[in-house]
Amino acid sequence: MEIIELDVRDTNALHAWFRVEQDTVRHDRPFGWERTYESFEQSALLGPSPYHRIVRLAASSQGGDYLGIAELHLSLQDNTHLATLEISVHPEHRRAGVGTALFREIELICAAEQRSTLCAETYVPTETSAEESAALLFAAGLGLFPVHQEDHLVLDLPMADEHMAELDSAHAASEDYDVIVWGDRCPDEHVEAFCRMRTQMSQDVPTGEIDVSPQVVDVERLRASEARLSAGWISIVAAARRRSDSVMGGYSQLVLPRGGELAMQDDTLVMPEHRGSRLGTRLKLATLQVLTRDHPGRRALHTWTEPDNHAMYRTNTDFGYVARERMYEVQRKAPLE
Ligand SMILES: CC(C)(COP(=O)(O)OP(=O)(O)OC[C@H]1O[C@@H](n2cnc3c(N)ncnc32)[C@H](O)[C@@H]1OP(=O)(O)O)[C@@H](O)C(=O)NCCC(=O)NCCS
Repeated sequence: MEIIELDVRDTNALHAWFRVEQDTVRHDRPFGWERTYESFEQSALLGPSPYHRIVRLAASSQGGDYLGIAELHLSLQDNTHLATLEISVHPEHRRAGVGTALFREIELICAAEQRSTLCAETYVPTETSAEESAALLFAAGLGLFPVHQEDHLVLDLPMADEHMAELDSAHAASEDYDVIVWGDRCPDEHVEAFCRMRTQMSQDVPTGEIDVSPQVVDVERLRASEARLSAGWISIVAAARRRSDSVMGGYSQLVLPRGGELAMQDDTLVMPEHRGSRLGTRLKLATLQVLTRDHPGRRALHTWTEPDNHAMYRTNTDFGYVARERMYEVQRKAPLE
C-alpha cells in the first residue's frame, strides 16, 4: 500500500476516490449526510482559493485500488494553526492499518505546514453507544479526543401542508419584518449587511473547546466563497429586514448538492437585538418553501445543532427534525517539535 495525492484531472481516480467516500458513509451511517459526485467533482476541479487549501489523499493497493481516502482542509488566512481532516476506510479493508497510514501522512503534511491542532468530525448513530464507536476508538488511539458535540438531525420531506401552515404562525410574531430570498449570489444592496451577519454567525455558533477563532467575512471573501460554492451546490438564502429602518435581523441558508435528493440546512442566525420574534422559524420556513417549490425531488433535510442550544433545538423539533446521529468533534493540540 502507498499513500498518494489524488490527481483531480484523472476522472477515473476521482470516481474511485468518491466511491470509497460513498461506500463508507452508506456502510456506517444509515442517516449519513452525502454529497453527490457532481458536487464533489465540481469542487475538486476548482483552481486554488486564496482562503482555503484542500489536500485529498488515497491509500492505494499495489493493484491501484483505493482502500481508504482522506481529505485535509487548511484555512490560509485565519486559523493557520489548524487542520481539519476526514478519513474513510473502505468497509472491506478495515483493521489493517489503512486509517493509521493515512493519518501518519496527514501528520507529515501538518508538520510541514506548521499546523499544530488537528480536528475531525466523527459520527455515532443514535442507536450505537459512543464506547463502541470505531471512529472514536480510532481517533483516541491517535490522540484526538472529543471537544464538542452536536446532534445530526434529519427532517423527512415533503412536509405536510398543514404542518407548513402551523409553522407559518411565526409570521404573526414577526410582522415588523419583510423576508427577502435569494439564491447563489447575495444582491449587491444587501451584501454589506449579509457580511456582518455572516461574521456574527461565526462568533455566535457554539464550538465547545474547538481551537478555532471566528472568521471575519468581508465582501471580497463572501463573493469568492459564493462563486466557488455555486460550482457544485445550489444555495437558497432568506434574510429578514425590519420595515421601520431596513436593518437586517437574521438569515437562514440551505445548500443542495447539485443532483441528488438531499439538502442541508446550513447557517441560521437571528442577530442578538432581533431575537424573541420567531424570526428563526420564519426564515427556515421561507427557505423550505422555496426548496419545496423549486426542488420537489429532495427527500430529506439535514442539520446540526448543539444539544444545549435550546432555542435552535426547539425550532428544529417544531419542524419535525429527528436526531439520528451524535457528532463528536475530536481534537489533538500539540506543540510543534
Ligand atoms: C475509523 C476508521 C477510519 C478506522 O480505519 P482502519 O483502517 O480500520 O483503522 P486502523 O486499522 O488503522 O486501526 C487503528 C486502531 O484504531 C482502533 N480501531 C479501529 N477500528 C476499530 C473498531 N472497529 N473497534 C475498536 N477499535 C478500532 C484500534 O485500536 C486499531 O488498532 P488495532 O487494529 O491494532 O487494534 C474506519 O473505521 C472508517 O473509515 N470509519 C468510517 C469513517 C470514520 O468514522 N472516520 C473517522 C473520522 S476521521
